[in-house]
Amino acid sequence: MLQQSLHEHLSNGSDEAQNENKLRKLGSGTFGTVYFTTATPQVYKKCHRIENSPILAEEYRHLKAIHKALSESGNLIQSPTPLDFHDSNDDEFWDEVKLMFPSSGSTRTGVLSMSRVYPMPSALRARLIDLFCPEDLQDRKASILRRGHHVARLLLGRAEPDNARAAPQRFFRTYNFPLTRMRAEKLGIDTIELSKEMGRMLAQMHMTARNDARDIEIVLGANITSTRTYNKYREPRAWVIDFNQVKDFNFTEEQISLLVDAFFANEAYFPRARTADDLYNVFADAYIDECQKIGEDARKLGKQFIVALEAEQARRDKDK
Ligand SMILES: Nc1ncnc2c1ncn2[C@@H]1O[C@H](COP(=O)(O)OP(=O)(O)O)[C@@H](O)[C@H]1O
Ligand SMILES: [Mg+2]
Repeated sequence: MLQQSLHEHLSNGSDEAQNENKLRKLGSGTFGTVYFTTATPQVYKKCHRIENSPILAEEYRHLKAIHKALSESGNLIQSPTPLDFHDSNDDEFWDEVKLMFPSSGSTRTGVLSMSRVYPMPSALRARLIDLFCPEDLQDRKASILRRGHHVARLLLGRAEPDNARAAPQRFFRTYNFPLTRMRAEKLGIDTIELSKEMGRMLAQMHMTARNDARDIEIVLGANITSTRTYNKYREPRAWVIDFNQVKDFNFTEEQISLLVDAFFANEAYFPRARTADDLYNVFADAYIDECQKIGEDARKLGKQFIVALEAEQARRDKDK
């Protein structure tokens, strides 16, 4: 089912099928927009600008390496499954799908397809809204629960919000909701386990897939990969997505600074590198253990990364 092409659905010309096949926007960022159809379990990431198609092709190459590394190491955090890449001059693809994109996204650019990250199970979504939706918006709860792409962000390294100083909120959504450590724990997430898996995941990205993990996102969705299992086995699961800024790591000491730079350039998904923080220690230990499993060179480089990371964090804290 996962590999089923849109083409098979397009050849079914009924109105209902046509509607099902329409690509709808799931989310977008500065680089691309992600579309889905209700007909197939895959999504399409399309870059906004045609000249960025080679970057999207690179993203596809990284996605393949990352997916392989994370699935083979049995990480609890998985990436979407890569399916295909189509360049802007792929006539066969574009002749098929042109009409399926909404008019705002129908110009030819590069497109990659991958499996979809499904939204959080509804009980979890409801709990998130109960816990964090401001009182004065609670009457909109039912519509917040129904609408939108319910994937939240797992930002274990982000400072907790200061509610007393925050401006009143005018709207609330679960999409990209920032789950800081305390919020994640309130929601019932085991943050120790999650930090460990984050550490293992970063080690796999650095040392097996060999990239700097720049600008990745770690989100909370469901553990399923197709609508067929939608009602059956829905449990929460963390996913890693968005690899268009990822750079190759050449597996040498000279590029440890590239890895450190990417760590600080990212949103604070990972715990901050302060040795007084128990969550960070779990993360760092898991990172080193995973490097060790990968091999002796990976262990050495991994250790150097952790030392450089902690030194950089200490330098930043001192400058404040
Ligand atoms: N495989 C996927 N399944 C479901 N939603 C996705 C998937 N990939 C990305 N998204 C959603 O689309 C948004 C934009 O995709 P992203 O790769 O982050 O684009 P950009 O490179 O512009 O930041 C993401 O923030 C996320 O909400
Ligand atoms: Mg993004």
